[in-house]
Amino acid sequence: MSVGGPIGVFDSGFGGLTILKQFKAALPDYNFLYFGDNARTPYGNRSFENVYDLTLKGVRFLFGLGCPLVILACNTASAKALRSIQQNDLEHLAPSNRVLGVVRPTTEAIGEYTRNNQVGILATKGTVSSESYLIEIHKFFPDINVVQEACPIWVSLVENGELENDGTDYFVERHLSRLFTKNLEIDTVVLACTHFPLLMSTIKKYLPGKVKVLDQGALVSDRLADYLKRHPEIEMRLERGGQIQFLTTEKSENFDHHAKIFYGHGIQSEQIHLDH
Ligand code: DGL
Repeated sequence: MSVGGPIGVFDSGFGGLTILKQFKAALPDYNFLYFGDNARTPYGNRSFENVYDLTLKGVRFLFGLGCPLVILACNTASAKALRSIQQNDLEHLAPSNRVLGVVRPTTEAIGEYTRNNQVGILATKGTVSSESYLIEIHKFFPDINVVQEACPIWVSLVENGELENDGTDYFVERHLSRLFTKNLEIDTVVLACTHFPLLMSTIKKYLPGKVKVLDQGALVSDRLADYLKRHPEIEMRLERGGQIQFLTTEKSENFDHHAKIFYGHGIQSEQIHLDH
């Protein structure tokens, strides 16, 4: 008999499915509950207060459904809301539960990738303006030089299924050349947005040959597996069975139709309403 609750995976919409896919591959025995706030997506251009408020609602909802652990799969939510939730809200919401994000595991590992300490971050406007990647990388690796480029249009390209065509080439090339104009020496690029891995084949066309691209989903999955080993008090509260449930604030037909781009195969979701 299964005890405990699923691992909650929160995202502004579809993007977190790219991360969930890798969680499932790395941790196939656990149950996951994915919650996409598609009715309010995208979060990338929203204010700090707005992202914080929406993310907190999502976390509260997932805790209410019994998730002892919630992962913010969205970079924008991780960058703008995670710290406040961990420091100010968790003790009132559910002190023995945990909320983790995708920024910290990425920044902790970045030193293993760069050889010359020159790193480029590609992300949404919100993630870039939060400076979370700069701050976190400098905590672990003060010598790494970080430059950032916001690529808001990349999210829309992916959401519209425009993964490979002339227009996509134009916008991918434009933002990459802006990034490298800021620092020609970059040897490692982080795709710090859930949507960007889907543009990988176009990104690779315009990336200087020796530049490495960090695969955030794989990295975050490895770190989650490691976290569960180091935190048996959380791990023992997680439900097993290999089941995944999908919830969205949009109409489920819309979610299911689009989700394939991100998850690789069809899924069936259920619409929920967040009224508090
Ligand atoms: N999930 C968001 C991220 O990783 C991208 C989509 C959005 O702007 O909501 O930053």
